[in-house]
Amino acid sequence: MLIRSFRTSDEGAVIALWRECGLTRAWNDPRKDITRKLTVQPELFLVGELDGKVIATLMAGYEGHRGWVNYLAIDPAAQRSGLGRALMTEIERRLLDRGCPKLNVQVRATNASAVEFYRSLGYALDDVVSLGKRLESDG
Ligand SMILES: CC(C)(COP(=O)(O)OP(=O)(O)OC[C@H]1O[C@@H](n2cnc3c(N)ncnc32)[C@H](O)[C@@H]1OP(=O)(O)O)[C@@H](O)C(=O)NCCC(=O)NCCS
Repeated sequence: MLIRSFRTSDEGAVIALWRECGLTRAWNDPRKDITRKLTVQPELFLVGELDGKVIATLMAGYEGHRGWVNYLAIDPAAQRSGLGRALMTEIERRLLDRGCPKLNVQVRATNASAVEFYRSLGYALDDVVSLGKRLESDG
């Protein structure tokens, strides 16, 4: 799998992959999420390509204190073959290069398999409650 930064021509394939992986939600317009990401550290929006096809994504950022990962998705046909781990290893390297001391991941409470995946990569549950406030509606 070739890991590279997102290109605008990937948009359709990326959104199809997010839908297939169950990552889209009614309140998050994936096109708007991509457009916003392209204005902030677009080089940290990664895709994995195999035989010219986008089979993996990872959207990350570093705000000077913590690194954050969103939209990690592996094509269901290619899951459990080490690609998720490979993408995370690559983003950890890129964030460390920028001086990022810690990476945080928010996982939906219902997504037990993603929690197991992150645990196997050395991520531990933090003793925090996650709160959010929507500043702009996508609807
Ligand atoms: C979660 C996800 C990214 C994992 O990617 P992946 O390429 O399948 O994972 P890897 O093959 O790199 O797995 C590495 C290790 O994580 C653990 N792991 C991965 N998937 C797991 C699962 N479903 N259940 C338990 N452990 C799992 C295993 O220890 C695995 O090593 P092993 O295969 O040698 O046992 C992928 O399943 C996915 O895209 N899921 C749907 C979207 C999603 O939930 N994304 C996360 C949003 S927070």
